[in-house]
Formats: sequence, C-alpha cells, structure tokens
Amino acid sequence: MSELVVALDYPDARSALDMARTLRGTAAWMKVGLELYCAEGPGMVRQLKDLGFSVFLDLKFFDIPNTVRGAVRSAVRAGADMVNVHTLGGRRMVEAAIEGRDEAKGSGAKPLLLGVTILTSMDHEDLGLIGGAGEGGIGNVVIDLAQRAKAYYLDGVVCSGLEVAGIKQACGSAFLCLTPGIRPGGESGDDQRRVVTPGQAVADGSNFLVVGRPITQAADPAGAALQVLEQMTRGA
Ligand code: C5P
Repeated sequence: MSELVVALDYPDARSALDMARTLRGTAAWMKVGLELYCAEGPGMVRQLKDLGFSVFLDLKFFDIPNTVRGAVRSAVRAGADMVNVHTLGGRRMVEAAIEGRDEAKGSGAKPLLLGVTILTSMDHEDLGLIGGAGEGGIGNVVIDLAQRAKAYYLDGVVCSGLEVAGIKQACGSAFLCLTPGIRPGGESGDDQRRVVTPGQAVADGSNFLVVGRPITQAADPAGAALQVLEQMTRGA
C-alpha cells in the first residue's frame, strides 16, 4: 500500500497548522522539514499528532554516531513516526541512529528510519566531491547506497521516483521507498526536475509519495490532495 505525505514547507506553525487542518480527512501523513522545524521546534510534531496525523520528521541527520544517536532519540521522543539520516554517514552512524530510535521507543509503536541516498538536487559534478560516480553514473551509486542502507538494517530509503524500480529489484519489495518529486500532471514547472506522476510512483512500488506545492499551493488544497489520492488508486 502507498501513502500520501504532504510536505508542510512553511516558515511558521500557524501557516502549517492552517494547511494541516484544511487537509484533514485526505492525506494521513504530514512532513515537517528543516524550515518549519528550525522555526518552531519539536512542539510542531506534537501539534500535528494532536490533529490526528502521522508525522515524518525530515531532518536528514548526518553527524558523528553519538550525536546522531541522540538526535534520533529526541526526534522519536518528540513523537515522530518516521525519521531519516544520510546513508553516506556510514555503518557506525546508521547503527547509532537505530540504537537511538530503539532507546526512545516504548509505546510499542516503531518509528520508521529511512536513509537518504543521493539528494536528487545533486548532479555528476557534485558527486566529484565524494570521488565521483564512476562509469555507472549516479544510478549505480544510489543502488549501492540503498543496498548498504538495507545491510545496515534501515527500513528503507528516500529516493527519486525514477529510482524505485531498480531499488526494489536490488533490495526486495519489502524495503521501503519514499519519493519526493511527484507531479500530478507530470509537469516540472518549478525546481523539481526528475518528476513522476502519482500513478507511476505507485506502479513502480513507491511506499510513500511526498507532495508539497502541487497540494499546498493549489486553489483548493483538500481537493488537490483527494485528486492525488485518486490518481494513486487509479494508476494515473
Ligand atoms: O513542493 P514539492 O512537492 O517539490 O516538495 C517536495 C518536498 O520533498 C520538499 O519538502 C523537499 O524538501 C523534499 N525533498 C525533495 N527531494 C529530495 C528530498 C526531499 O524534494 N531529494
């Protein structure tokens, strides 16, 4: 089953909560990213939980293992249902993240821990920073990182919709894929370049579809969210 996650990319709690209230009864998940979290802190997670949403705290942790252990522990204690770290942080950092998650849980619920592979904004030149992508290109690096994420016992990865099929093939269908860059009409009029439609993402096996502006900047956000959900079911 695939879930819709709405990206609440807002500078303050009031705008974010207004949108969340508008979307009640449509998407089950909300995403809190760096902008909103830096402005409002962990209380934002609890307020969205109180409205009945599951919350993906998208802070992409990347630091020494001890620091990431503490950050994940705090994120889970704040109520996050899903948290992510950079897979490039390596085995020890990821293992520490899992320990932090396990130290914090207690309610019985097990928050999901995902690994970022390569940011979809990075290109070949950027990858030169970490030794280059080699002859196989970025796609091969992403598959390699997804396999590492699985070997480190992460629940899944954040990736482009265009990478889901290859990752599922390499890591198995139970390994979760969360995909931003979803555009209902397949258009990429903004900063997203490598986009897929909701139906395509679901057909390829994406488990969580992150959609921001096509919903939050629509004239009728709830209607737009329902349309995306319908496209996910219909395969459009
Ligand atoms: O508005 P839009 O649908 O482009 O929002 C996508 C959301 O997903 C944003 O919050 C963005 O930061 C996030 N994201 C992304 N690409 C990644 C990782 C996260 O667009 N590779």
